[in-house]
Amino acid sequence: MSEPELIILDDAQSLHVHAAEEIAHFAGEAICMHAEFTLCLSGGSTPAATYELLAERFRLSVDWKAVQFFWGDERCVPPDDPASNFGMAHRTMLSRLDLRPDQIHRIRGEDPPAQAARAYEEELRASFGLGEGEFPCFNLALIGLGDNVHVASLFPGHPAIHERERIAVAVEVDAPQRHRVTLTPPVLNNSARVMFLVAGEDKAAAVKRALEGPRDPDRFPAQIIAPVHGEVVWLLDRAAASQLSHT
Ligand code: 6PG
Repeated sequence: MSEPELIILDDAQSLHVHAAEEIAHFAGEAICMHAEFTLCLSGGSTPAATYELLAERFRLSVDWKAVQFFWGDERCVPPDDPASNFGMAHRTMLSRLDLRPDQIHRIRGEDPPAQAARAYEEELRASFGLGEGEFPCFNLALIGLGDNVHVASLFPGHPAIHERERIAVAVEVDAPQRHRVTLTPPVLNNSARVMFLVAGEDKAAAVKRALEGPRDPDRFPAQIIAPVHGEVVWLLDRAAASQLSHT
């Protein structure tokens, strides 16, 4: 595994512009080589501004009809719920692009969690033509960072951090939306590229624990992200990087 690359931008707006530029670049590269770009979206609030830029300023920079959209995790709520990760991406980006329904592979948050996890696993197996024991390989997986150092819905102390066989699992976590479906570490670590998007002073301590803390993925789940063959880039604004020793 290559060392994570850190790119520190002056402020959140610069981070979102740089993220959109990188995503558009990787999309063009993948579409040129494979006629398709498989993009795993992150939830939460941080990526919203990046998604809006992709749909507006970068709308003509990507052949959006060649993009397949997936999610790293989902809250177990209906898609029109304000807390839905699909709903956030739909409002900020997907609804503004001319996409076919078959390009959207959302996690069905409205269904019972275990059922939604299994259905998402089947959707991923079908989309990537996976055999038994195989994992999807996203061209790019976007990852956010919780202030408790969680990634996707892999929260501190949760057994899902050590899941090695399932593609997606239902979890109950200590967060406003307790029930969620999340991709597992072997899936995220099978990505060709993982891009963390982290902004704000409130994430500085989590960034320091993830990157400079003692190795302990149970306490700091972001540390489980270590793609075997892929690259990891951390896009940080100066505020989120402010507690790092080496910047
Ligand atoms: C979720 C996300 C989660 C998120 C972090 C950061 O469903 O909540 O997938 O992993 O990326 O919690 O969230 P913010 O961007 O809102 O700080």
